[in-house]
Amino acid sequence: MPRVKKQQQEVKKKRRKKTSPIQIVKGMKDILPPEQLLWDYVLENSRKLCKDFGFGRIETPILERTELFQRGVGDNTDIVEKEMFSFETQGKDKLSMRPEGTAGLARAYIENGMSRWSQPVKLYYEGPMFRYEKPQAGRYRQFHQFGFEIFGDDDAAIDAQVIYLAWKIFQKLGIKDINIQINSIGCVECRSAYKKLLRDYYEMKINKLCMDCKRRLDSNPLRLLDCKEEKCMQVATSAPQIIDHLCVPCHDHFKNVLEFLDEIEITYVLNSRLVRGLDYYSRTVFEVWENNSEGGQSSLGGGGRYDGLVEMLGGEETPAVGFSFGVERVAESLLRKGIQLNHSVKKEVFLVQLGDKARKKILRLFDKLIDSNITAGESLGRGSIKSQLRMANKFNSRFALIIGQKEALDDTVIIRDMESGMQEVVVMDSVVKEVKKRLKG
Ligand code: HAM
Repeated sequence: MPRVKKQQQEVKKKRRKKTSPIQIVKGMKDILPPEQLLWDYVLENSRKLCKDFGFGRIETPILERTELFQRGVGDNTDIVEKEMFSFETQGKDKLSMRPEGTAGLARAYIENGMSRWSQPVKLYYEGPMFRYEKPQAGRYRQFHQFGFEIFGDDDAAIDAQVIYLAWKIFQKLGIKDINIQINSIGCVECRSAYKKLLRDYYEMKINKLCMDCKRRLDSNPLRLLDCKEEKCMQVATSAPQIIDHLCVPCHDHFKNVLEFLDEIEITYVLNSRLVRGLDYYSRTVFEVWENNSEGGQSSLGGGGRYDGLVEMLGGEETPAVGFSFGVERVAESLLRKGIQLNHSVKKEVFLVQLGDKARKKILRLFDKLIDSNITAGESLGRGSIKSQLRMANKFNSRFALIIGQKEALDDTVIIRDMESGMQEVVVMDSVVKEVKKRLKG
């Protein structure tokens, strides 16, 4: 082979190597237009209900100081120990991509002086969260939460209201086969006495525990209760239950929450092993579980009361309670249910063109129609008139506005009634007015 040709081939080979496609980061996913329709459905319904319940929207940054989560979520939790995307900036600030929204909202409550607002302060939020978890079905490294929090009221009725709103959102979305798992993990005082009891119990069974539980026994014994290892689950069945060791105020609070739920006819399951994986909780904790087709249950969302968080982050003593759900999990549940959303987008008119000159005119006409609030579709690619008319049908358009080579020269437009097939030629300057008149008629 001649040398020049060989060299050319080498260059081509190198170039080809350079342009190998870049893949998405593990555990993350693109949300494409057909899926967005489902996301809009989930988010718009959730926003509407939050607004009806008197919540105002808040947005907090994705990046927060790492210390916020170390102090708020807890140093000994899985999230902070193993799952955060953290880094140091050029200015030596230690930052993390938020693994959840509650700690950021508590920071914002303090920083924006919300304790001076009329209480309680009711906020809702949505957005991406990041956890370095092992990706699997329904578990991503970037996922989205929709959540709401109420700051400044410790009444049991507020816990019930949060649970009610969570329940209502799922009903509204059409996810009805759910149950509320609920527990109380008490306050700092009664919990610490209970933790001692639990430690004593687990120490007697230490040989039956997995490595993770052995390690956590000292720092975070509550978490042993919801370990998913078979042998640990066995040990947990006879563990002392916190419900039997709540102090009187915590006991009364929990009793009241349950009475409110009974009153509004929300069915719940008392789950003494539900402790949640974040350290800020006190008293009520709950999750919304969905019964899945394999007979198991998966968690769509979780929440609870966190009366100590604001103070722990440097604010005044402020009781609070909230909930969030995973948007991906909810969207996937709706897909499994075969939800049908109306994909067909209607365009009142569809612009059809033939030739370069006509294409330029179409651009201007499209602009005029949009400015006059007429929904218009177009196909600026080089399709035949026949295929463009097929698209007009697909968009359910009442009229096709056709500009061929002749019309482009004459500065006219053919208005074609898509139902009757009747066509009429009008001058370009009056086409918007004519279309409006016909749409009204
Ligand atoms: P969480 O239980 O850690 O609670 O997360 C809430 C929901 O986010 C989960 O039930 C799940 O639907 C979704 N989720 C969590 N991790 C992932 C993941 N890796 N991939 C997909 N979805 C996920 C919290 O984050 C608390 N901030 C909830 C709260 C609000 N508590 C009080 N207020």
